[in-house]
Amino acid sequence: MTLGKQKRPLIIGHRGAKGEAPENTLASFALAVEQGANALELDIHLTVDGEIVVCHDPLINRTTNGEGAIANLTAAELKSLDAGGWFDPRYAGERIPLLEEVLAAVPAGVMLNIEVKCPYSGRLQERLVELLERYDRLGSVVLSSFHHKVLLALKQANPRLQVGLLYRGNFVQHRKIAEISGMEVYALHPYFTMVDAEDVADAVEHGYKIFSFTVNDPEQMRRVAELGVTGIGTDFPARLKEVLDSM
Ligand code: G3P
Ligand code: CA
Repeated sequence: MTLGKQKRPLIIGHRGAKGEAPENTLASFALAVEQGANALELDIHLTVDGEIVVCHDPLINRTTNGEGAIANLTAAELKSLDAGGWFDPRYAGERIPLLEEVLAAVPAGVMLNIEVKCPYSGRLQERLVELLERYDRLGSVVLSSFHHKVLLALKQANPRLQVGLLYRGNFVQHRKIAEISGMEVYALHPYFTMVDAEDVADAVEHGYKIFSFTVNDPEQMRRVAELGVTGIGTDFPARLKEVLDSM
């Protein structure tokens, strides 16, 4: 089977090109774009001094040479750490990026999927909106979270934000999750084993984007692409590009 009348899905670089570079660093995002990613997924937390930084875990222990909780550290303290050497000595000197640095570095045509990993707060909302407005990103960013109440609070505070629901469960109709969420939902982010063609078609027909995560096996990439999803998250953007180019 080929993609046929299905639209080619977006290649979403998960934490950049997580499989080949230290996740959530500028080097990882640059590599993903170089490999053909048309969108980037990244994770955010709020520092103790109200800055938004890009990191997956709430603790810095796994992905830097420091330790502690981001919520207890300042942006300056976090910027002093090495966020690349743990992955490969070639990447020593990479830093935890500020969200602002990512917004400044990533080309305007590359969509951003910003996953909110920290709790909701007024400071988070204000800083996020300030940055997205300054970089003219309100229309090309989707804010996602497994914690739908965080998205609801963000959306209530600023209806212009585009939000996407992350989830791992299986449902008869995935779009129902959006319909019961109590807010206008831009995208659904189902785990890739949980979707079938009928379900994807139903959601797309009702106006939802479907961004499925995280697909690294070429056979599965092909299967998920054939379902008609809007985008596929992967740790290996070059591999996904090769699969899509062959369809
Ligand atoms: O894109 C969804 C995916 O990033 C969610 O899982 O743990 O990689 O943030 P995680
Ligand atoms: Ca994520």
